[in-house]
Amino acid sequence: MTKLSVDGIANINDLPFGQDRSRAWRELHSTGEAVLSGDEIVLTSAEAVEFAAKRPELFSSAKAFDKLGSPVPLIPIAIDPPDHTRFRRMLDPFFSPKKMAEREPELREQAGELIDAIVAKGECEVVADLAVPFPSRVFLTLFGLPIEDRDRLVNWKDAILQFADLNSGEPTPEVLAYALELYTYLNEYIAQRRTDTSGTDMLTQLIHDTDDGGMNDNEILGLCFMFVLAGLDTVTSAVGFSLAKLAEDGDLRRRIADDHSLIPAFIEEILRVESPVPFTNRVTTEEVEVAGHVLPKDARVLLSYGSADRDPRRYPKADDVQIDRKSAHFAFGRGPHRCLGSHLARLELRLLLEEWHTRIPEYTLAVDEPPQVPWPTSTMVLRSIPLNIKPA
Ligand code: HEM
Repeated sequence: MTKLSVDGIANINDLPFGQDRSRAWRELHSTGEAVLSGDEIVLTSAEAVEFAAKRPELFSSAKAFDKLGSPVPLIPIAIDPPDHTRFRRMLDPFFSPKKMAEREPELREQAGELIDAIVAKGECEVVADLAVPFPSRVFLTLFGLPIEDRDRLVNWKDAILQFADLNSGEPTPEVLAYALELYTYLNEYIAQRRTDTSGTDMLTQLIHDTDDGGMNDNEILGLCFMFVLAGLDTVTSAVGFSLAKLAEDGDLRRRIADDHSLIPAFIEEILRVESPVPFTNRVTTEEVEVAGHVLPKDARVLLSYGSADRDPRRYPKADDVQIDRKSAHFAFGRGPHRCLGSHLARLELRLLLEEWHTRIPEYTLAVDEPPQVPWPTSTMVLRSIPLNIKPA
């Protein structure tokens, strides 16, 4: 058996990610490129993370996500190539920039409605008023599900992510119970759409798509489950970090409010600096050498996209948001599992920031303490962002 060798030990749960992520990432980097945290090995450098993410035959996803309790495999994250390649061939066209652009008017209207309500109210807590409701509404629209189901859906997702034991490979009984409720809910809609082909929503289209053999009900279910867990909190996170950063940085805020063409570059930088998905999971399939260390077979590995994004060797002044930076970030991952929803996420963020700054160009944090992230967590979401707003 290979003896495990690493650069050092740092329990990631004890690092100050809640209050000071720059310090937390610095501490992790200073421990090394391969760091032991509990019984997991954390890869921290951009080079090591890229190496592992691009080698699914050595760093498998198949068993890495069991703790989320899905009764069916999470499609496509828990599938390794070559099967994974078939799923992505089928799914990518549904999420292409062109397909997403077709949704722009509808999603822009939804963003505008939420922001109009904030203007009418005269005050704003970004997380509850915007960052949570917008992505869940977009999900329900794309999948043709009733808007009244939003709270139930958000509650199941919160419960599954809250009760998932981040330090274990197994689901807890609570996770299994909530996962089953979500499963039953999604299953009913899938059965309904099998017989009713009239809908123009994405769920109906996916179910009746026969390219590459199509997907069976369990696969569709695993995909829907994945969307709920991957596509809501991540966007909530990015919306929160965007507005919190602009609220505290007056110069940047004024530049963006005056010139909306800077918004896409700002989105890329805030995703890099405040990476919503700090770590992702893999399991080694055989003995493998990475970052100068030999990891044994069946080792549980955390690829730290967040740490790679703050690697000073890849990004000079890595902690600073610099909107003229050109290097590609890790926030949507690397390799075959690179985010399926990246174009949708970028569209959601752009529309929201455009509509926001058209209506509310001036705003500041309404609290002295910077907003915090409850840590540990699988997605970095600021708990609450109260703002003083001055509508146009
Ligand atoms: C700012 C928002 C988002 C961020 C930062 C983000 C981040 C990520 C990351 C880092 C991965 C790779 C995980 C890994 O390597 O293990 C990923 C995969 C994935 N994301 Fe996103 N995501 C976002 C939004 C979305 C949205 C809106 C959707 C819904 C359509 C979505 C669906 C997925 C799916 C299905 C995968 C798995 C892809 C595969 O395994 O081939 N994501 N995302």
